[in-house]
Amino acid sequence: MRPKPMRVVSGIQPTGNLHLGNYLGAIRNWVRMQDDIASHGGDCLFFLADMHALSQPHIPAELSANTREMTAALIACGVDPDRSILFNQAQVPAHAELQWLLSGTARMGWLGRMTQFKDKSGKNREGASIALFTYPVLQAADVLLYQATHVPVGEDQKQHLELARDIAQKFNNDFGNGIDIFTLPDPIIPTGAARIMSLRDGSAKMSKSDPSDMSRINLTDDADTIMQKVKKARTDAEPLPGEAAGLTGRPEAANLVAIYAAMTGTGMDDVLRTFAGKGFGAFKPALGELLVERLVPINARFVELRQDRAALDAILRKGAEKARTLAAPTLAAAYAALGLVRG
Ligand code: TYM
Repeated sequence: MRPKPMRVVSGIQPTGNLHLGNYLGAIRNWVRMQDDIASHGGDCLFFLADMHALSQPHIPAELSANTREMTAALIACGVDPDRSILFNQAQVPAHAELQWLLSGTARMGWLGRMTQFKDKSGKNREGASIALFTYPVLQAADVLLYQATHVPVGEDQKQHLELARDIAQKFNNDFGNGIDIFTLPDPIIPTGAARIMSLRDGSAKMSKSDPSDMSRINLTDDADTIMQKVKKARTDAEPLPGEAAGLTGRPEAANLVAIYAAMTGTGMDDVLRTFAGKGFGAFKPALGELLVERLVPINARFVELRQDRAALDAILRKGAEKARTLAAPTLAAAYAALGLVRG
């Protein structure tokens, strides 16, 4: 049997700014896979998960503004709307439809184990929205709808992807009649940058929901802000060791070295060979300069692109049109498999 052509699918919530964790954990792989796919055949679909944003309190005007801004940021990072299908979920109703169709298959117990729900609902579980609980079913629909073979994400999304596989497998078993209605997707998680941590707390991931802006590097930060954030990043008083094993128990130091390694495409041991014995007084300016050199051009492109709202809307409209076409056969197959009559 011929292998299935690669179908790369991934999404990002358009809440807040694109930060270094998103970039190193996911977006950089989106761009790499897009370049790869162009020479090997297949498709890349990247979307703004605006429907997911409803799971948390939000301000409608901010959601639409952020959806356009995040579109501009993704293009500035190298997502090319001519080679990848770039769209927002709200323009492809098949995502929400398939979520409902999968809701009969997903189990309460499976969703109850999702650590992101536990983290985000915290002590207020009774007051959390239903959307926050069923969110991973929408995420499963996002990828199963397109027969995704590969899903580039950071480490924090691994559990959601495993759930998508479980849902796909059970649906195929229960309703497929010997045919696989859905493809089981493989997560693509980068080594080294799978989990970029907060600059203020080495035990918390870098996140757009952290109230302190000093905890993250935004891809929209200017050079001075980047330097300032790196200089103020929490560290310890010890010099850097000669190899990564020496960073055990030093999460903040390990995080900064991991960021340096990921930005230069090298390993942590390579970085430490250069900086062994040096303190953060030497390492931080070097890291800051590296980040400025790489991120400032992205920021410049972003500032230009975000101004043309009509162009961004046209890109999303065109992408959604293509996505709707690709989604249609799988959605129809799911309806039919469930015995739903559609005329
Ligand atoms: P989101 O919007 O929180 O993050 C987008 C991508 O960035 C990665 N990421 C990180 N990687 C490394 N270190 C970090 N500190 C870090 N923070 C974020 C995330 O792993 C993700 O890949 N539920 C998803 C969005 C989504 C999705 C999907 C993803 C909706 N449907 C279908 C893949 C497939 C989310 O909230 O990601």
